[in-house]
Amino acid sequence: MIKIFIDEKKIEAKENQTVLQAAKENRIKIPHLCYHPALKPSGSCKLCGVEVISPGGKHVVMLSCILKVKENLEIRTDSEMVKAHRKKAFNKLLQMAPDAGRIRSLAREWGVEVTPPPDGCIRCRLCIRVCNEIVKARALKMVADETGSRVVPEPGRCIGCGTCANLCPTNLIQVKDQEGVRTISIKDDIIGQLPLERCEGCGNLYATENFLKHVEESMGLHPDTKEHHRLCPSCTKLLSNRAVTERERIKK
Ligand code: SF4
Ligand code: FES
Repeated sequence: MIKIFIDEKKIEAKENQTVLQAAKENRIKIPHLCYHPALKPSGSCKLCGVEVISPGGKHVVMLSCILKVKENLEIRTDSEMVKAHRKKAFNKLLQMAPDAGRIRSLAREWGVEVTPPPDGCIRCRLCIRVCNEIVKARALKMVADETGSRVVPEPGRCIGCGTCANLCPTNLIQVKDQEGVRTISIKDDIIGQLPLERCEGCGNLYATENFLKHVEESMGLHPDTKEHHRLCPSCTKLLSNRAVTERERIKK
């Protein structure tokens, strides 16, 4: 048997055993993911790093799934050095597998703070900027808390135009027209839910009443367009084409 010390506790380990195997046999927990008792160790996940104190007093992190026990080996499993190594290892794994619940719950179990899962938003603020600067509905804003910043709706302000969804480069904002109602949402948050109006030409549902009112109020009723905003895009195009043809006919 070989005598080693894990967190100052004397352990009897078998010859040729790894530190991780010896720790497991003695119910000392060390996080690990790529270790499997039936396979040769690969040292891939790096989660099993422990601090090794050499006889000369040097401190270095080594992988316990690979490190073989040696007489009087001194190991720390929860030092600051180990915690820093572990955090780096968890975050590196989550960069490759951000949605892996097992890695996140293992990190939680070990009290390691890891980067939150990506939410699909690149924080370009295009949605907020267009809603503030062009549409002027101010229906979106950025909020920040300890988990970071994110886009949230400003309740009751959305007019249902869908411009934010059209500009969002990651398609995070969705517009859904269903049973006469337009719902605009960002992930699980509803930005606006508004009834749709019918086109005065073809009768198809095409825009929300709030949007149409907004157009009237902000643009005024210009003689060239006053009839157009109550028509869907196809009917507007049809009307414009007819007007051009009519003008050309009169000129002749
Ligand atoms: S929701 Fe889309 S448009 Fe808005 S900040 Fe995020 S990525 Fe940009
Ligand atoms: S268990 Fe993955 S590197 Fe040791």
